[in-house]
Amino acid sequence: KAALSTAPSAATTTMASEKASCGSVRGELCDLFRTALSVSYPDVAADPVVAPCGNAKNGDYQCNNAMALFGKLKGAPNAPKAPRDVANAILGALPANDLVSETSLAGPGFINIRLNKDFLSKRLSNMLVNGLAGWAPAGYIGKKVVIDFSSPNVAKEMHVGHLRSTIIGDTLCRIFEYSGADVLRLNHVGDWGTQFGMLIEHMADTRKARVAAGGEDKDADEDVSDLQELYRAAKKRFDDEEEFKTRAREAVTRLQSGDPVSLAAWQRICAASRREFEAIYSRLGVTLQERGESFYNPMLKGVVDELKDAGVATIDDGATCVFVEGQSVPLIVQKSDGGFGYASTDMAALKHRLNEEKADWIVYVTDVGQSQHFELVFAAAKKAGWLVEGSGPKVSHVGFGLVLGEDGKRFRTRSGDLVRLVELLDEAKSRCAATLRERRVEAGEEVNEAEVEEAACAMGYGAVKYADLKNHRTTNYKFSFDDMLNLKGNTAVYLLYAHARIAGIVRKAEKDVYAAAATTPISLDHPKELELALHLCKLPEALEDAIAELAPNRVTDYLYDLSEKFNSFYVDCKVLGSEQEASRLLLCEATAVVMRKCFEMLGIKPLYRI
Ligand code: ARG
Repeated sequence: KAALSTAPSAATTTMASEKASCGSVRGELCDLFRTALSVSYPDVAADPVVAPCGNAKNGDYQCNNAMALFGKLKGAPNAPKAPRDVANAILGALPANDLVSETSLAGPGFINIRLNKDFLSKRLSNMLVNGLAGWAPAGYIGKKVVIDFSSPNVAKEMHVGHLRSTIIGDTLCRIFEYSGADVLRLNHVGDWGTQFGMLIEHMADTRKARVAAGGEDKDADEDVSDLQELYRAAKKRFDDEEEFKTRAREAVTRLQSGDPVSLAAWQRICAASRREFEAIYSRLGVTLQERGESFYNPMLKGVVDELKDAGVATIDDGATCVFVEGQSVPLIVQKSDGGFGYASTDMAALKHRLNEEKADWIVYVTDVGQSQHFELVFAAAKKAGWLVEGSGPKVSHVGFGLVLGEDGKRFRTRSGDLVRLVELLDEAKSRCAATLRERRVEAGEEVNEAEVEEAACAMGYGAVKYADLKNHRTTNYKFSFDDMLNLKGNTAVYLLYAHARIAGIVRKAEKDVYAAAATTPISLDHPKELELALHLCKLPEALEDAIAELAPNRVTDYLYDLSEKFNSFYVDCKVLGSEQEASRLLLCEATAVVMRKCFEMLGIKPLYRI
């Protein structure tokens, strides 16, 4: 049977003694156990492993160091006889604190930890009084984090793959920003390359034809009004007409050598593309700084020369390549015809982000299909000495899976094209607007179109984002409006309703909960109250995990669990009109506040009334 002991408790703690930034409870427990470890075993290096208990019956958290330490100490003079002795020694050295109320030993030497109710209650009151600023994951203040995401290609439609990059990238940015990092949101737009030759030539031909038919000899908006069509038409001629192909190639050369007429045509195409991208970003509430591939043009030759001079890149079959161990193919930084490509640009971009932007962490968000490309780029940068394994700036590729249609195949329209993003957003929104109007009519309320429009955007775009983020990013998922707009289950719509319902409870009480939070203690006597409070205090941990794994679904999982914990509390604990109303209203409001923080991290606008 587990031995129970009461942990030493710090004298008295007041709300004011709470630190401004505390990070996670788990982090604070780690600090406590780190101290205990260094006191009881000063000569053994060990980082405490503290994690939530698998079974809530045993405790809230668990420290699992004793067994590993026992192994390390074997054979030493005065070595402990059993892992349990190690665990007891650690417990004996645990500093006085106000978090831990009880500890117990289980199994070979697990230390189960029960948190102090008072500590949780004060932490929640403090959060209501002072806001959530202190709940951000610790360790990122002032760190420069570059996130390369969205990054669509000019003259091609932004498709559902770019949607994933945009949504996942934006959420990562938001979590890092909340954590105090200095985030640079970069849009590495594909705005350079040989495809521009055929586009420019085709545009020039269209204009000639227009003049021949009696039209004016000047640029027309219609030339770039349908960029996909422009791309399709130009590509067809490029593939079919030898003469056009030659001209397109010459146009590329002219563009690369800075010919003003070609440059102007290129700029018109980019500007038209940018307008389309911006329209989508503004609907999704995503901000990005455009720094396309063309930005790095002036640096390409220098970077490749540097790699050659350092012996990092070698000529193979006429191409300049960086060979790296364990990879079947090299990174080609200059093609045999002397041209620079996608990889050359990524090497230049990486160097720029390290040297000019002084990035501490560079994160790339693309589909998993580009994993090898990034492995090669990172390995080449290590070979060149720009990056050092285990120290200095970090780089990460955040790969994601495919979006599938209802048929389980790659998401395409009937005509076989990749689905257009705008149409998806339109449909999600109009479906939500229809439901909202219906509800108003059913309830005998007047339909306020402006309000419906706003709520439909929040719900529709929120549903699309949430359906994407809730999957682990590497899994392929099925895009289904019916599923993502479901009122029940793990959907944004359900969670938005849940939030609105809680906001409604608090509104109905007509009390100033924020004033009350400073004076009314939050009682956690009912097990459901305690369970909810404990989960609320785990928000920083969910965000820490999301950053550590670059996995936004850590936040959606947390949020969904929270709504379930709230429901279970609300079933068992009467709020309005109960004796505990004042305290329970504070729990309701704390839940709403934490839900809103999660929505904010996910880029979803909360609704207060649905
Ligand atoms: N434009 C590329 C694509 O659509 C993604 C670029 C990702 N970023 C990078 N630095 N390579 O596939």
